Amino acid sequence: MSQDTKKPAVKTTGHSWDGIEELSNPLPMWWVWGFYITCAFAFVYWLMYPAWPIGHTYTKGVPGLNTLTYTAKSVDGKETQKTTHWNMRSKFMVEMNEHKAAQKQWFDKVASMPFAEVSKDADLMQFVNSAGKTLFSDNCAPCHQAGAQGKIKFSPNLTDDYWQYGGTYEEIHTTLVGGRRGAMPSFKAVLTGEEIVQAANYVLSLSGEPHNAEAAKAGDALFHGKAGCYACHGPDAKGMTAIGSANLTDKIWLWADVQGAKTAEAKLEEIKYVLINGANNGVMPAWSGRLNPEQIKLLTVYVHDSLGGGK
Ligand code: HEC
Ligand code: HEC
Repeated sequence: MSQDTKKPAVKTTGHSWDGIEELSNPLPMWWVWGFYITCAFAFVYWLMYPAWPIGHTYTKGVPGLNTLTYTAKSVDGKETQKTTHWNMRSKFMVEMNEHKAAQKQWFDKVASMPFAEVSKDADLMQFVNSAGKTLFSDNCAPCHQAGAQGKIKFSPNLTDDYWQYGGTYEEIHTTLVGGRRGAMPSFKAVLTGEEIVQAANYVLSLSGEPHNAEAAKAGDALFHGKAGCYACHGPDAKGMTAIGSANLTDKIWLWADVQGAKTAEAKLEEIKYVLINGANNGVMPAWSGRLNPEQIKLLTVYVHDSLGGGK
Protein backbone atom coordinates (compact mmCIF):
# COMPACT_ATOMS: atom_id res chain seq x y z
CA MET A 1 0.00 0.00 0.00
CA SER A 2 1.35 3.37 -0.99
CA GLN A 3 0.92 6.22 1.42
CA ASP A 4 0.41 9.90 0.46
CA THR A 5 3.39 11.40 2.17
CA LYS A 6 2.69 14.97 1.03
CA LYS A 7 -0.33 15.36 3.29
CA PRO A 8 0.61 16.05 6.91
CA ALA A 9 -0.39 13.27 9.15
CA VAL A 10 -3.77 13.92 10.79
CA LYS A 11 -3.69 13.92 14.54
CA THR A 12 -5.62 11.19 16.20
CA THR A 13 -7.25 11.18 19.59
CA GLY A 14 -5.50 7.96 20.35
CA HIS A 15 -8.76 6.06 20.40
CA SER A 16 -8.93 3.07 18.20
CA TRP A 17 -11.65 0.47 17.71
CA ASP A 18 -10.83 -2.65 15.74
CA GLY A 19 -8.14 -0.70 13.93
CA ILE A 20 -10.37 2.29 13.13
CA GLU A 21 -8.67 5.44 14.41
CA GLU A 22 -10.62 8.42 15.75
CA LEU A 23 -9.17 11.50 14.07
CA SER A 24 -8.88 14.91 15.71
CA ASN A 25 -9.35 17.48 12.93
CA PRO A 26 -9.41 21.13 14.09
CA LEU A 27 -12.75 23.00 13.63
CA PRO A 28 -12.82 25.30 10.59
CA MET A 29 -11.79 28.85 11.46
CA TRP A 30 -15.04 30.38 10.12
CA TRP A 31 -17.00 28.21 12.53
CA VAL A 32 -14.82 29.06 15.49
CA TRP A 33 -15.11 32.82 14.83
CA GLY A 34 -18.83 32.51 14.32
CA PHE A 35 -19.04 30.90 17.73
CA TYR A 36 -16.98 33.66 19.44
CA ILE A 37 -19.07 36.36 17.80
CA THR A 38 -22.37 34.83 18.95
CA CYS A 39 -20.95 34.54 22.48
CA ALA A 40 -19.96 38.22 22.41
CA PHE A 41 -23.38 39.15 21.01
CA ALA A 42 -25.16 37.19 23.72
CA PHE A 43 -23.04 38.92 26.39
CA VAL A 44 -23.80 42.41 25.08
CA TYR A 45 -27.48 41.53 24.65
CA TRP A 46 -27.63 40.23 28.19
CA LEU A 47 -26.18 43.52 29.51
CA MET A 48 -28.63 45.63 27.54
CA TYR A 49 -31.93 43.77 27.39
CA PRO A 50 -34.15 41.66 29.62
CA ALA A 51 -32.68 38.19 29.11
CA TRP A 52 -32.70 35.41 31.69
CA PRO A 53 -35.74 34.25 33.60
CA ILE A 54 -35.12 33.89 37.33
CA GLY A 55 -38.00 32.43 39.30
CA HIS A 56 -40.84 34.94 39.08
CA THR A 57 -38.68 37.69 37.61
CA TYR A 58 -35.90 38.11 35.07
CA THR A 59 -32.63 39.94 34.51
CA LYS A 60 -33.45 43.46 33.33
CA GLY A 61 -30.16 44.51 31.81
CA VAL A 62 -27.55 46.76 33.43
CA PRO A 63 -29.31 49.88 34.78
CA GLY A 64 -28.49 53.01 32.79
CA LEU A 65 -27.20 51.14 29.79
CA ASN A 66 -30.46 50.93 27.85
CA THR A 67 -33.23 52.72 29.73
CA LEU A 68 -36.35 54.30 28.26
CA THR A 69 -38.02 57.50 29.43
CA TYR A 70 -41.56 58.39 28.47
CA THR A 71 -44.50 60.51 29.59
CA ALA A 72 -47.42 58.53 30.91
CA LYS A 73 -50.90 59.93 31.45
CA SER A 74 -52.99 58.43 34.24
CA VAL A 75 -56.78 58.18 34.25
CA ASP A 76 -57.17 61.47 36.13
CA GLY A 77 -55.17 63.23 33.42
CA LYS A 78 -51.95 63.64 35.44
CA GLU A 79 -48.78 63.33 33.40
CA THR A 80 -45.70 61.72 34.88
CA GLN A 81 -42.25 60.99 33.50
CA LYS A 82 -41.31 57.34 33.78
CA THR A 83 -37.88 55.78 33.33
CA THR A 84 -37.64 52.03 33.06
CA HIS A 85 -35.39 49.29 31.76
CA TRP A 86 -35.94 48.48 28.10
CA ASN A 87 -39.18 46.65 27.39
CA MET A 88 -41.68 46.45 24.54
CA ARG A 89 -44.46 48.33 26.30
CA SER A 90 -42.26 51.27 27.22
CA LYS A 91 -40.82 51.28 23.72
CA PHE A 92 -44.40 51.58 22.44
CA MET A 93 -45.07 54.45 24.87
CA VAL A 94 -41.96 56.27 23.65
CA GLU A 95 -43.16 55.92 20.06
CA MET A 96 -46.66 57.11 21.00
CA ASN A 97 -45.10 60.19 22.67
CA GLU A 98 -43.13 60.90 19.51
CA HIS A 99 -46.25 60.63 17.34
CA LYS A 100 -48.18 62.88 19.69
CA ALA A 101 -45.43 65.48 19.62
CA ALA A 102 -45.39 65.34 15.82
CA GLN A 103 -49.18 65.74 15.72
CA LYS A 104 -49.23 68.49 18.33
CA GLN A 105 -47.80 71.13 16.01
CA TRP A 106 -50.61 70.39 13.54
CA PHE A 107 -53.32 70.39 16.19
CA ASP A 108 -51.91 73.68 17.54
CA LYS A 109 -52.09 75.15 14.06
CA VAL A 110 -55.72 74.07 13.64
CA ALA A 111 -56.54 75.51 17.08
CA SER A 112 -54.96 78.89 16.30
CA MET A 113 -56.57 79.47 12.88
CA PRO A 114 -60.12 80.50 11.97
CA PHE A 115 -62.14 77.64 10.43
CA ALA A 116 -62.15 79.06 6.91
CA GLU A 117 -58.37 79.55 6.94
CA VAL A 118 -57.82 75.92 7.89
CA SER A 119 -59.85 74.75 4.92
CA LYS A 120 -57.71 76.85 2.55
CA ASP A 121 -54.41 75.40 3.78
CA ALA A 122 -53.79 72.29 1.63
CA ASP A 123 -51.08 70.81 3.89
CA LEU A 124 -53.17 71.33 6.98
CA MET A 125 -56.22 69.81 5.28
CA GLN A 126 -54.21 66.68 4.59
CA PHE A 127 -53.67 66.35 8.32
CA VAL A 128 -57.33 67.21 9.03
CA ASN A 129 -58.41 64.45 6.67
CA SER A 130 -56.21 61.72 8.11
CA ALA A 131 -56.65 62.67 11.79
CA GLY A 132 -60.35 63.41 11.21
CA LYS A 133 -60.89 60.01 9.64
CA THR A 134 -59.38 58.26 12.66
CA LEU A 135 -61.27 60.38 15.18
CA PHE A 136 -64.49 59.83 13.24
CA SER A 137 -64.02 56.05 13.05
CA ASP A 138 -63.24 55.85 16.77
CA ASN A 139 -66.01 58.12 18.06
CA CYS A 140 -68.70 58.82 15.51
CA ALA A 141 -68.90 55.83 13.15
CA PRO A 142 -70.70 53.58 15.67
CA CYS A 143 -73.75 55.83 15.23
CA HIS A 144 -73.21 57.70 11.96
CA GLN A 145 -71.77 54.61 10.17
CA ALA A 146 -68.31 54.22 8.71
CA GLY A 147 -69.04 56.36 5.67
CA ALA A 148 -70.98 58.95 7.74
CA GLN A 149 -74.05 58.12 5.66
CA GLY A 150 -76.17 57.66 8.79
CA LYS A 151 -78.95 55.17 9.36
CA ILE A 152 -82.64 55.83 9.00
CA LYS A 153 -84.43 56.01 12.39
CA PHE A 154 -81.08 56.18 14.16
CA SER A 155 -78.66 58.90 13.06
CA PRO A 156 -78.54 61.55 10.35
CA ASN A 157 -76.51 61.42 7.15
CA LEU A 158 -73.54 63.79 7.44
CA THR A 159 -72.48 63.57 3.81
CA ASP A 160 -75.44 65.40 2.27
CA ASP A 161 -76.00 69.12 2.09
CA TYR A 162 -78.84 69.09 4.57
CA TRP A 163 -78.23 70.15 8.16
CA GLN A 164 -80.93 69.81 10.74
CA TYR A 165 -78.96 71.99 13.17
CA GLY A 166 -77.22 74.15 10.60
CA GLY A 167 -74.17 73.54 8.46
CA THR A 168 -71.91 76.52 9.16
CA TYR A 169 -68.64 75.85 11.00
CA GLU A 170 -70.03 77.55 14.10
CA GLU A 171 -73.26 75.54 14.07
CA ILE A 172 -71.50 72.21 13.54
CA HIS A 173 -69.05 73.17 16.29
CA THR A 174 -71.95 73.90 18.66
CA THR A 175 -73.48 70.51 17.74
CA LEU A 176 -70.26 68.69 18.59
CA VAL A 177 -69.43 70.58 21.77
CA GLY A 178 -72.85 70.43 23.44
CA GLY A 179 -74.58 67.54 21.68
CA ARG A 180 -78.14 67.74 20.34
CA ARG A 181 -81.46 66.23 21.17
CA GLY A 182 -84.43 67.17 19.05
CA ALA A 183 -87.75 67.25 20.90
CA MET A 184 -90.69 66.39 18.67
CA PRO A 185 -93.68 65.98 20.99
CA SER A 186 -96.28 63.25 20.76
CA PHE A 187 -99.65 64.40 19.42
CA LYS A 188 -101.58 61.41 20.67
CA ALA A 189 -103.36 63.41 23.35
CA VAL A 190 -103.63 66.62 21.31
CA LEU A 191 -105.18 65.47 18.02
CA THR A 192 -107.91 62.97 17.23
CA GLY A 193 -107.12 59.93 15.10
CA GLU A 194 -108.69 61.65 12.10
CA GLU A 195 -106.71 64.83 12.66
CA ILE A 196 -103.48 62.84 12.82
CA VAL A 197 -104.33 61.32 9.43
CA GLN A 198 -105.03 64.81 8.10
CA ALA A 199 -101.78 66.28 9.44
CA ALA A 200 -99.86 63.28 8.06
CA ASN A 201 -101.42 63.78 4.62
CA TYR A 202 -100.38 67.44 4.70
CA VAL A 203 -96.79 66.44 5.57
CA LEU A 204 -96.76 64.00 2.62
CA SER A 205 -98.08 66.71 0.30
CA LEU A 206 -95.17 68.97 1.26
CA SER A 207 -92.65 66.71 -0.43
CA GLY A 208 -94.85 65.64 -3.37
CA GLU A 209 -95.59 62.17 -1.97
CA PRO A 210 -98.93 60.47 -2.76
CA HIS A 211 -101.63 61.87 -0.43
CA ASN A 212 -105.32 62.53 -0.06
CA ALA A 213 -105.75 66.17 -1.17
CA GLU A 214 -108.84 66.82 0.89
CA ALA A 215 -107.30 65.46 4.09
CA ALA A 216 -104.10 67.38 3.36
CA LYS A 217 -106.09 70.63 3.15
CA ALA A 218 -107.55 70.00 6.60
CA GLY A 219 -104.04 69.07 7.75
CA ASP A 220 -102.71 72.38 6.43
CA ALA A 221 -105.19 74.19 8.67
CA LEU A 222 -104.17 72.06 11.66
CA PHE A 223 -100.45 72.60 10.93
CA HIS A 224 -100.85 76.36 10.88
CA GLY A 225 -103.49 76.48 13.58
CA LYS A 226 -104.68 74.22 16.37
CA ALA A 227 -101.81 71.71 16.29
CA GLY A 228 -99.19 74.43 16.33
CA CYS A 229 -96.71 72.55 14.16
CA TYR A 230 -95.68 75.84 12.55
CA ALA A 231 -94.33 77.11 15.87
CA CYS A 232 -91.48 74.62 15.61
CA HIS A 233 -91.29 73.69 11.94
CA GLY A 234 -91.95 77.22 10.70
CA PRO A 235 -94.91 78.46 8.63
CA ASP A 236 -93.14 77.20 5.48
CA ALA A 237 -92.43 73.83 7.20
CA LYS A 238 -88.74 74.20 6.38
CA GLY A 239 -87.66 73.70 9.97
CA MET A 240 -85.49 75.80 12.30
CA THR A 241 -81.85 74.99 12.79
CA ALA A 242 -81.82 76.46 16.30
CA ILE A 243 -84.07 73.67 17.60
CA GLY A 244 -83.35 71.09 14.90
CA SER A 245 -86.98 70.81 13.86
CA ALA A 246 -86.85 68.88 10.62
CA ASN A 247 -87.35 70.49 7.25
CA LEU A 248 -90.50 68.67 6.09
CA THR A 249 -90.21 69.77 2.45
CA ASP A 250 -86.78 68.45 1.44
CA LYS A 251 -87.50 64.73 0.91
CA ILE A 252 -84.85 63.90 3.50
CA TRP A 253 -86.20 61.87 6.37
CA LEU A 254 -84.70 60.69 9.59
CA TRP A 255 -87.49 59.27 11.74
CA ALA A 256 -90.32 58.65 9.27
CA ASP A 257 -88.93 56.32 6.64
CA VAL A 258 -91.03 57.75 3.82
CA GLN A 259 -88.46 56.96 1.14
CA GLY A 260 -88.17 53.34 2.26
CA ALA A 261 -91.93 52.70 2.44
CA LYS A 262 -93.21 51.13 -0.77
CA THR A 263 -96.91 51.97 -0.78
CA ALA A 264 -98.87 55.18 -0.13
CA GLU A 265 -100.45 53.55 2.96
CA ALA A 266 -97.06 52.59 4.33
CA LYS A 267 -95.76 56.14 3.84
CA LEU A 268 -98.78 57.51 5.69
CA GLU A 269 -98.18 55.03 8.52
CA GLU A 270 -94.55 56.20 8.86
CA ILE A 271 -95.63 59.83 9.38
CA LYS A 272 -98.52 58.85 11.63
CA TYR A 273 -96.10 56.89 13.81
CA VAL A 274 -93.95 60.01 14.39
CA LEU A 275 -96.99 62.18 15.14
CA ILE A 276 -98.41 59.64 17.59
CA ASN A 277 -95.15 58.77 19.33
CA GLY A 278 -93.08 61.91 18.83
CA ALA A 279 -89.37 61.71 18.07
CA ASN A 280 -87.14 62.11 21.09
CA ASN A 281 -84.89 59.12 21.01
CA GLY A 282 -82.17 60.47 18.78
CA VAL A 283 -79.41 61.71 21.03
CA MET A 284 -76.27 63.27 19.69
CA PRO A 285 -73.87 63.12 22.65
CA ALA A 286 -71.85 66.14 23.80
CA TRP A 287 -68.14 65.79 23.05
CA SER A 288 -66.71 68.53 25.22
CA GLY A 289 -64.90 66.74 28.04
CA ARG A 290 -64.56 63.56 25.99
CA LEU A 291 -62.48 64.98 23.18
CA ASN A 292 -60.16 67.93 23.72
CA PRO A 293 -60.98 71.30 22.11
CA GLU A 294 -58.42 70.91 19.30
CA GLN A 295 -59.88 67.51 18.37
CA ILE A 296 -63.42 68.94 18.31
CA LYS A 297 -62.28 71.86 16.18
CA LEU A 298 -60.52 69.52 13.77
CA LEU A 299 -63.60 67.29 13.55
CA THR A 300 -65.75 70.35 12.82
CA VAL A 301 -63.61 71.16 9.80
CA TYR A 302 -63.60 67.48 8.81
CA VAL A 303 -67.41 67.21 8.98
CA HIS A 304 -67.88 70.55 7.20
CA ASP A 305 -65.28 70.25 4.44
CA SER A 306 -64.50 66.59 4.00
CA LEU A 307 -67.84 64.93 4.67
CA GLY A 308 -70.77 67.07 3.86
CA GLY A 309 -70.32 70.03 1.56
CA GLY A 310 -71.13 72.58 4.27
CA LYS A 311 -73.67 75.23 3.48
C1 HEC B 1 -74.77 57.71 20.19
C2 HEC B 1 -74.85 57.92 18.77
C3 HEC B 1 -74.06 59.09 18.19
C4 HEC B 1 -72.70 59.30 18.23
C5 HEC B 1 -71.63 58.45 18.92
C6 HEC B 1 -72.46 60.50 17.47
N1 HEC B 1 -73.64 60.99 16.99
FE1 HEC B 1 -73.86 62.68 15.87
N2 HEC B 1 -75.88 62.47 15.98
C7 HEC B 1 -76.56 61.39 16.52
C8 HEC B 1 -77.98 61.62 16.41
C9 HEC B 1 -79.07 60.65 16.86
C10 HEC B 1 -78.15 62.88 15.80
C11 HEC B 1 -79.48 63.57 15.51
C12 HEC B 1 -79.99 64.20 16.77
C13 HEC B 1 -81.39 64.72 16.58
O1 HEC B 1 -82.02 64.40 15.57
O2 HEC B 1 -81.86 65.42 17.46
C14 HEC B 1 -76.80 63.38 15.53
C15 HEC B 1 -76.53 64.59 14.93
C16 HEC B 1 -75.26 64.99 14.51
C17 HEC B 1 -75.00 66.20 13.74
C18 HEC B 1 -76.03 67.21 13.28
C19 HEC B 1 -76.51 66.87 11.89
C20 HEC B 1 -77.37 67.92 11.28
O3 HEC B 1 -78.01 67.60 10.27
O4 HEC B 1 -77.42 69.04 11.78
C21 HEC B 1 -73.64 66.23 13.51
C22 HEC B 1 -72.87 67.30 12.74
C23 HEC B 1 -73.08 65.07 14.15
N3 HEC B 1 -74.09 64.33 14.75
C24 HEC B 1 -71.74 64.75 14.14
C25 HEC B 1 -71.18 63.76 14.94
C26 HEC B 1 -69.76 63.58 15.13
C27 HEC B 1 -68.66 64.37 14.43
C28 HEC B 1 -69.61 62.57 16.03
C29 HEC B 1 -68.31 62.01 16.61
C30 HEC B 1 -67.51 62.93 17.38
C31 HEC B 1 -70.95 62.09 16.39
N4 HEC B 1 -71.86 62.85 15.71
C32 HEC B 1 -71.20 61.03 17.24
C33 HEC B 1 -75.98 60.28 17.09
C34 HEC B 1 -74.63 60.16 17.39
C1 HEC C 1 -92.07 71.47 19.99
C2 HEC C 1 -91.64 71.58 18.62
C3 HEC C 1 -92.33 70.73 17.58
C4 HEC C 1 -93.67 70.70 17.29
C5 HEC C 1 -94.82 71.45 17.96
C6 HEC C 1 -93.80 69.78 16.18
N1 HEC C 1 -92.60 69.28 15.84
FE1 HEC C 1 -92.25 67.90 14.38
N2 HEC C 1 -90.31 67.80 14.95
C7 HEC C 1 -89.71 68.63 15.88
C8 HEC C 1 -88.31 68.27 16.00
C9 HEC C 1 -87.30 68.95 16.91
C10 HEC C 1 -88.09 67.19 15.12
C11 HEC C 1 -86.78 66.45 14.88
C12 HEC C 1 -86.59 65.42 15.98
C13 HEC C 1 -85.22 64.79 15.95
O1 HEC C 1 -84.61 64.73 14.89
O2 HEC C 1 -84.78 64.32 16.99
C14 HEC C 1 -89.38 66.93 14.47
C15 HEC C 1 -89.58 65.91 13.54
C16 HEC C 1 -90.77 65.76 12.82
C17 HEC C 1 -90.97 64.76 11.81
C18 HEC C 1 -89.97 63.69 11.37
C19 HEC C 1 -89.13 64.16 10.22
C20 HEC C 1 -88.16 63.11 9.70
O3 HEC C 1 -87.10 63.52 9.17
O4 HEC C 1 -88.41 61.91 9.82
C21 HEC C 1 -92.24 64.95 11.31
C22 HEC C 1 -92.91 64.17 10.22
C23 HEC C 1 -92.79 66.06 12.04
N3 HEC C 1 -91.89 66.52 12.95
C24 HEC C 1 -94.08 66.57 11.82
C25 HEC C 1 -94.72 67.43 12.70
C26 HEC C 1 -96.10 67.79 12.61
C27 HEC C 1 -97.07 67.37 11.52
C28 HEC C 1 -96.37 68.57 13.68
C29 HEC C 1 -97.70 69.13 14.11
C30 HEC C 1 -98.76 68.17 14.26
C31 HEC C 1 -95.14 68.73 14.42
N4 HEC C 1 -94.17 68.04 13.79
C32 HEC C 1 -95.00 69.49 15.57
C33 HEC C 1 -90.31 69.60 16.63
C34 HEC C 1 -91.67 69.83 16.67
